[in-house]
Amino acid sequence: MTAELDEGPGDVTPYRNPLRDPQDRRLPRIAGPCSLVIFGVTGDLARKKLMPAVYDLANRGLLPPGFALVGFARRDYTNQDFAQIVHDSVKEHARTPFREEVWQQLSEGFRFVPGDLTDDVAFERLRETVDELDVTRGTGGNHAFYLSIPPGLFPEVVRQLSEHGLTDEKPGSWRRVVIEKPFGHDLKSARELNRVVESVFPPEAVFRIDHYLGKETVQNILALRFANEMFEPIWNSNYVDHVQITMAEDIGIGGRAGYYDGIGAARDVIQNHLLQLLALVAMEEPVSFDAWSLRQEKKKVLNAVQLPERLDLHSARGQYAAGWAGGVKVKGYLQEDGIPSTSATETFAALRVDVDTRRWAGVPFYLRTGKRLGRRVTEVAVMFKRAPHLPFTKTETEELGQNALVLRIQPDEGITIRFGAKVPGTTMEIRDVNMDFQYGGSFTESSPEAYERLILDVLLGDPPLFPQHTEVELGWKILDPVLDYWARHGKPEQYPSGDWGPDSAHEMLARDGRAWRRP
Ligand code: BG6
Repeated sequence: MTAELDEGPGDVTPYRNPLRDPQDRRLPRIAGPCSLVIFGVTGDLARKKLMPAVYDLANRGLLPPGFALVGFARRDYTNQDFAQIVHDSVKEHARTPFREEVWQQLSEGFRFVPGDLTDDVAFERLRETVDELDVTRGTGGNHAFYLSIPPGLFPEVVRQLSEHGLTDEKPGSWRRVVIEKPFGHDLKSARELNRVVESVFPPEAVFRIDHYLGKETVQNILALRFANEMFEPIWNSNYVDHVQITMAEDIGIGGRAGYYDGIGAARDVIQNHLLQLLALVAMEEPVSFDAWSLRQEKKKVLNAVQLPERLDLHSARGQYAAGWAGGVKVKGYLQEDGIPSTSATETFAALRVDVDTRRWAGVPFYLRTGKRLGRRVTEVAVMFKRAPHLPFTKTETEELGQNALVLRIQPDEGITIRFGAKVPGTTMEIRDVNMDFQYGGSFTESSPEAYERLILDVLLGDPPLFPQHTEVELGWKILDPVLDYWARHGKPEQYPSGDWGPDSAHEMLARDGRAWRRP
């Protein structure tokens, strides 16, 4: 089963020749005059991530002085009430320290538009608000609309924006739309969603968020691979035995039952974050790091992804049962508020894929993600083959494992190289040791939050870190057969909270003579 490259209508970002069009990336990238309009501003994402990121950008001097933040939601708030909401979220979640003078300047640009997404009057008010901001804050007709709302509501908002003239770009100004995942439920719905969004916004004005791409450690995959000489010669099937990509969480679904049930771990994480990580790890060197070149290489890899013939042997799914998290007793998925007791939604998913290219022939990529696992960790572990010959006795190398290069995406950001070393003493005994790079130990700057980087890039109109529609489609082409298979074959297996997933996930690797890492 192979996903095929489909050059969708979205593939129009012009190729920029870096030699003819140089850009000094070291200069601070500061957004020009503009506003950010957030739909769903009272939601969890806006409160925990988006509003704090806006403040952090302002604090770092990366927003223009007249920047405006517009909240749109079905609440009876005044501008002052909205400012208080932003204030609380910034105080609780911002990364950088609170500075009164930054806050004062930023909050002058806050506006709140109360209303329902189907309410014409509210969208008329929104249009008046952005017009007013152009005059009073000098936002210059540049407005980004962030849809932090369930995807079922995208078509209505996009229609309203268009009907009320909010998508009309005046000469020299821009309008952009930012959409959060999930981009559809499967290939068909993703295509339909894209058709609706792109019937109103041109492809280059659509910014799809996969917040993993905004993480420093994820961008560092490109630096590690393409800025260094020592890794490239071994980055292939001659030396690599397999690759494990893990995104484990210790939390349950919290208050997100409405979003999560019916979606599950594979759609929530594998379709987007894990396949993007796979693409960055497996792709060839891009001609440059502009959006067009980067996407070309990522798409080639996603196109080359092969599912195993036997999904019963090479995929696994689970659902957390009651157990322990951080020393506290926690309930199972089926007992969570808002979850039907018959739900077949998986909270753990694991899948083997192969990448059908010369570089990766015969090297399985194992992807796994889950909630209520042993601890929160995201990592890419490149596991190397064993040395072809060991001039030691069996006892001497009893504790020698496989060499590994582990990209620690979070929370303990860095890179580990694991290899065998002689245990000091009079006998030859070899044991695994780790060589570590830690961001905190090498750099004084702390890493910006993914959303800081991504919101700034939206305001700058810089697209490389945003997946293009074709990549989204390829993700669904890979996943759809797995989801279909699971839907036809019973329910996910229960695993105790605090454990590392269902038995079937361990058996899946054991069958290949391998084992999951216990990070
Ligand atoms: C989101 C998923 O995309 O990523 C959530 O929808 C998940 O279910 C979250 O909890 C994890 O993000 P991070 O950055 O904490 O790994």
